[in-house]
Amino acid sequence: MNGQPKPHILFTREEVEATVNRLAAEVRRDYQGKHPLLIGILKGSFVFMADLIRLLDFPLEVEFITLSSYGRGRSTPGGIKVVKGLRAEVKGRDVLIIEDIVDTGLTISFLLDYLGKKKPASLRLCALTDKPSRRQVPVTIDYLGFTVPNKFIVGYGIDWDERFRYLPDICFVEVED
Ligand code: IMP
Repeated sequence: MNGQPKPHILFTREEVEATVNRLAAEVRRDYQGKHPLLIGILKGSFVFMADLIRLLDFPLEVEFITLSSYGRGRSTPGGIKVVKGLRAEVKGRDVLIIEDIVDTGLTISFLLDYLGKKKPASLRLCALTDKPSRRQVPVTIDYLGFTVPNKFIVGYGIDWDERFRYLPDICFVEVED
């Protein structure tokens, strides 16, 4: 597509704030006193993660992991791999993965399997958005913000080819596959 597509608001910043508050309350309820390890998947989760942890009022640890990137198109690459791994020990920890969007589910399935092999005490998923219409493998999302339609989502940390991460609302753009 030539030029810059126009972002359309799907969820306003106020709706995002209310939803992140709700998710934080759920996480507080379940992880209080457990010193959990929150693992954000870069780069899309960093804004969500930053807002979420400031609503958690107990000790926790933050880590990030980088998986092979989605790129510009909508097709998830077949072979997912860890590009930049974790420093923290996962064994015996209560691990909560923080993801921006679950689409086909391939990325998160890979990560759940990867982290599961490291023998955490518990392993759960918190996703800001879910696009179930494109699912290829089943995924259980323990804490979910929004269900989104089959559109290309941007904003609130989520990009299209590195663009639009800065938008405070969750938006969609019309892009070619
Ligand atoms: P999956 O493996 O197909 O579930 O894709 C997961 C990753 O693809 C997400 O973490 C995003 O980085 C990226 N992704 C999937 N759908 C979108 C979208 O609509 N906008 C931006 N990134 C997306």
